[in-house]
Amino acid sequence: MREWIYARIIDWRLHLFLACTVPAAVLVWAIGNGDLGPNPLETIRDTTGIWTLRFLLVTLTITPLRRMTGWRGIIRARRMLGLFAFFYAALHFISYVWLDQFFAFDGMIDDLTKRPFIMAGYASFVVLIPLAITSTKKWIGRLGGRRWQLLHRLIYFSAAAGVVHYFWRVKLDVQRPIIYGALLSGLLFTRLIRTCSRSEHHNSSHAA
Ligand code: HEM
Repeated sequence: MREWIYARIIDWRLHLFLACTVPAAVLVWAIGNGDLGPNPLETIRDTTGIWTLRFLLVTLTITPLRRMTGWRGIIRARRMLGLFAFFYAALHFISYVWLDQFFAFDGMIDDLTKRPFIMAGYASFVVLIPLAITSTKKWIGRLGGRRWQLLHRLIYFSAAAGVVHYFWRVKLDVQRPIIYGALLSGLLFTRLIRTCSRSEHHNSSHAA
């Protein structure tokens, strides 16, 4: 038992897990201390929103990092980070439904049709649901690796819709959404280059 505990303590994934809970813990702490600034609702909603986007982007860095470093074990961080993105998205959504709309579902539908940025937020959130559900090994087995991979490409769509949502939300100061958009483009570009170079390699080996 003691060895099991020691093995857990030195396991980097535990540290990563704890690090991922820090933004939520800071928020809970601030709520407890009444330390959320002049508009607590906005602080909760915006903090969870921005952390969702950050977690999506960090999740997308894992595969290029694995290729660059050759560290195969890092892939084990990907699922955890993706699930944390979903966790923060759920908190963000709950904060909207609860604190923004007070559970008025007709108001939410109205909002959805009147404000396009809300639609982009929904699109980003909705596609994360099947990804979170199918994130287990059991689901990889059920779907088969190829189909699972195809399904999980939806994360690109979710992140892009998240950036659009952020961009449309801020009316004047678009500098930050643009930075997030640039980071996402960089991450997608690494994948594009790889796909191109792989198909080139495939073609040339066929020609030989
Ligand atoms: C059903 C889904 C969603 C709804 C209804 C929603 C709603 C909102 C609302 C009402 C705001 C505040 C806008 C304002 O008053 O100006 C907001 C901000 C934001 N949301 Fe969402 N959102 C959703 C999903 C998402 C998702 C999935 C992401 C990330 C991928 C996200 C990222 C953000 C960001 C980054 C902000 C701005 C934060 C800031 O200004 O610091 N949202 N969202």
